[in-house]
Amino acid sequence: MERNEFLKSLGLGVALACTGSCFSSCGKKSDAPGPTNPGGGTTPPGSTVSVDLNSQLLAIGSSLVLSGILFIRTASGNATTSFAATQATCPHQGGSLGFIQANNYIQCSLHSSRYTTTGSILAQPNDGGTTSALKVYPLTISGTTLTATA
Ligand code: FES
Repeated sequence: MERNEFLKSLGLGVALACTGSCFSSCGKKSDAPGPTNPGGGTTPPGSTVSVDLNSQLLAIGSSLVLSGILFIRTASGNATTSFAATQATCPHQGGSLGFIQANNYIQCSLHSSRYTTTGSILAQPNDGGTTSALKVYPLTISGTTLTATA
């Protein structure tokens, strides 16, 4: 093989290698993504997110978002039935969800759809669209650590 032929074949090889890496990075997104965090980050399905009950969710009605999960204290005591954990983004168009303690429901900041703490729909979006029930995550407690499994 002459030098020119060798360089041409090498160039083709490099081009194919680049094409391959480009195709592999343009794969299809998962149809079932984990919860997304409005502040960034996701929690892959099957992974866990924990809350320290010594310093968080101390009062009934308090809530917080961690790694795309909305945690709510619904009752006193440190039993799993004292808490709820749902997705933190709205199934309609991804608005941020927050717990409205005075009304005991979860509300979307974008189109005001409302949900129970068990994920059921109380009110559809105010833009004429429709939403679906929230994902609710199972909870466990070990000592003062509350853990949701995504
Ligand atoms: S994004 Fe939540 S109601 Fe539209």
